Amino acid sequence: MCGIIGYIGDQPANEVIFDGLTRLEYRGYDSAGIAVLDGGRIVLAKDVGKLRHLREILVTNFPSRASPGIGHTRWATHGRPSSFNAHPHGDCRGTLMVAHNGIIENYMKLKRALTAAGHVFQSETDTEVLAHLIESHYQGDLEAAVLKALADVEGAYALVVLHRDHPDQLVCVRKESPLIVGLGRGEQFIASDVTAIMQHTRQVVYLENGEGAVVRRDGVTFFDLAGRHLAKTPTTLDWNPVAAEKGGFPHFMLKEIYEQPQVIRNTIGGRTSEEEGKIYLTELGLSGPDIFRTQRIVMVGCGTAFYAGCVGKYLIEQLVRVPVECDLASEFRYRQPLVDGNTLVVAISQSGETADTLAAVREARARGAKVLGIVNAKESSLTREVDGLVYIHAGPEIGVASTKAYIGMLTAQVLLALLLGKIRGVLDTAFVQQTIRDLKVLPQLIERLLADTSGIRALAEKFKDARNFLYLGRGINFPTAMEGALKLKEISYIHAEAYAAGEMKHGPIALIDKDLPVMAIAANQGAYDKLVSNLKEVQARSGTVIAVASERNEEIRHVTEYVIPIPDCPDILSPILSVIPLQLFAYYVADLRGLDVDQPRNLAKSVTVE
Ligand code: M6R
Repeated sequence: MCGIIGYIGDQPANEVIFDGLTRLEYRGYDSAGIAVLDGGRIVLAKDVGKLRHLREILVTNFPSRASPGIGHTRWATHGRPSSFNAHPHGDCRGTLMVAHNGIIENYMKLKRALTAAGHVFQSETDTEVLAHLIESHYQGDLEAAVLKALADVEGAYALVVLHRDHPDQLVCVRKESPLIVGLGRGEQFIASDVTAIMQHTRQVVYLENGEGAVVRRDGVTFFDLAGRHLAKTPTTLDWNPVAAEKGGFPHFMLKEIYEQPQVIRNTIGGRTSEEEGKIYLTELGLSGPDIFRTQRIVMVGCGTAFYAGCVGKYLIEQLVRVPVECDLASEFRYRQPLVDGNTLVVAISQSGETADTLAAVREARARGAKVLGIVNAKESSLTREVDGLVYIHAGPEIGVASTKAYIGMLTAQVLLALLLGKIRGVLDTAFVQQTIRDLKVLPQLIERLLADTSGIRALAEKFKDARNFLYLGRGINFPTAMEGALKLKEISYIHAEAYAAGEMKHGPIALIDKDLPVMAIAANQGAYDKLVSNLKEVQARSGTVIAVASERNEEIRHVTEYVIPIPDCPDILSPILSVIPLQLFAYYVADLRGLDVDQPRNLAKSVTVE
């Protein structure tokens, strides 16, 4: 994930910034850069790959005592990893530099207008648009130019700007992507993550959405997007460095659950046009004829990635009207699968290094199928072995239990299904436009859900000593039940089994008694009535039911003992919302049982062996 740092003060900016970038390394990146102001000129160093490459430039050929300066580690979204695409990015005349996290959604439109006005671009990034836009509005007041530029911008950003004519200041602003200002004596810091600056100061101001700052050596002034001045109160950090990496959360897993709204924004960012009702997946690697030729789609993956593919089956069959099968990669690779040139195999993986998934991809390609990867880790092995890619842009996932990558996989599959459905003439523009709108609202619904998790924690307290759990769902909710059960068993070591609710009466109903709690995913309306009948069957046998259901569903309370309410959303998006309480439930149970949440026994984050 991208990282930002800015410094103004008497220390050599390049050292403070390089040290800060090193502390952000754990977040993952593919290139890095630093720009400083040295005697009225901006000096820039950037390179692809690890920070040690940048280090070599800094030690041989860089002003050693200059300040202010800004730096960035990039995790590519728009444009491949390269030194051209690395941040910071400048304007035409070399008067300013910008480092940016987030995605500028309307950058193509802005770039076209700026190019027509004579601006010349050096990179493929959305960020460079910001530099030229600020240049075009600059009339001597940097803060005013930044605000005018941002008035034209749609999307998410945390940005910091360095200007040749303003050696006494840095200007920074945030919307959606996090940014903080660190306060020192005669020196100030800007960072996307406290880890980058906490060795220098524990006094920080968290910028809220739509807030910015003019940062000077001797003080900071805060403003909003309308240019009004704001009074902000600093927070004193009492975190140790390890806690800081976790952003103040006790575990990476919890941090990653809370990052999920941002993952959705990252996954859809720059890939949708609500106006045109279009989806852009630039690395898809499938031509029009490839898409029309596809008679069958096979989803392959392992663990959570496999369950994501099972949700994909429902989405694609409904929106593209092509038959979809789901196969565990470890099974697919050995059963002489029936795939050919008319089959599209979709391989899903967070790490891109899972041995079984890689083997399945090789098997599919050897049989003539086209293979598309839905992957998180950039430049991983899988990305080099597929015909096309949809990156999920979830950033590094450190907790062994996959959470935010799953949300990214589901979101990417919605985009894929919309794109294929539109091209094959199944979906009309109005439907795609509406679904894009619904997708954009989803992060806010998740934020609402995450704002108060006390009810889920209380349930975890109640059920933490259960020996077994049954998870039930129907239709598109069945894979959610499987993923919820996997989360519980892998981190809390409670045996949890998932069943399609309609199948319960064919066997598992024999297990139901007062000691077998049942988690029911009752989020969407599809086969809701049928599910309610199944829950009544559980109740009649003294089973205890917890239902994940719409917050507006009053009726469900009559058939279940406990309800975890979630906001309403369209059926096809409901798996993205309804899995979140299940992740949290598993997390709290494991934590209350005193277990190692981030590194559960016997498990590895990336399974690179058979
Ligand atoms: O990196 P991948 O997505 O290919 O990993 C697949 C599984 O190993 C992974 O999802 C595993 O099941 C997780 N521990 C689930 O939380």
